[in-house]
Amino acid sequence: MVHKKADTPRKITAGILQFRPVFKDIDANLKAIKKYLGRRKFDLAVLPELATTGYNFTDRNDAWEVAENKKGQSFGFFEELSVKTGGAIVWGMAERAGKKLYNSAVLTTPEGDHHIYRKTHLFFRESEIFDPGNTGFKVFKWRGLRLGVMICFDWIFPESARTLALKKAQIICHPSNLVMRFCQDAMVTRSIENGVFCMTSNRIGTENNGISSLTFTGRSQITDTKGNRILSFNRSDKSFRVVKLQPELSDTKKVNSYNNIITDRRVGYYKA
Ligand code: ACM
Repeated sequence: MVHKKADTPRKITAGILQFRPVFKDIDANLKAIKKYLGRRKFDLAVLPELATTGYNFTDRNDAWEVAENKKGQSFGFFEELSVKTGGAIVWGMAERAGKKLYNSAVLTTPEGDHHIYRKTHLFFRESEIFDPGNTGFKVFKWRGLRLGVMICFDWIFPESARTLALKKAQIICHPSNLVMRFCQDAMVTRSIENGVFCMTSNRIGTENNGISSLTFTGRSQITDTKGNRILSFNRSDKSFRVVKLQPELSDTKKVNSYNNIITDRRVGYYKA
């Protein structure tokens, strides 16, 4: 990406990682992430939800053992990786903040900034493990790009992506650990109804913690502002793949010469 001041770059190289994290083994997961991304060049990469730890914790204490704050090894690791690759990286983690424990996604930039989003809508047993996120939906500005972040199950609430679009996100970064089969299709609609790019990075594999077994659905994808899948994985791919995209296409919300998906909304009729 060649960037002048804060102008939106015409094209960027955007990538998603699909892999199988090893449960509660941060060292192994960071090593794998370095293997996939370390020699690549990109502007923006999105990794799965809880990419550093795996997902299927038995309880809060189980997750607390591998949760990190900014002093933990993962922040430094991603800062280095971001500098090496030249790109911003959105990665999922279990975050300790005082006594709170969040399912978070961090946007790390080569400048050494870490912007944190904490998952708003917790899924299934996550509510016994994590505290509900308190950041709200945020759009981070970086080198002329406007990057929104939501995590996995946030997808089922159309308000999540809509809020990010109303806050002018061009690209929605969507780290995921999906177990139901609907999200990939729903994200096509999220792209169309909001006129944004969506980058859903999902994991693969099964995690059995002795209490429950979860199988993750893969099929990571990037959808463009018209809902076309411009990159898609199958259920078992393990790789980091990139595509070129034009972020400015998100800045027009016109459907045709009459309709605009943002300004045509009739908010007064949307109240229950
Ligand atoms: C999910 O939110 N990990 C399904």
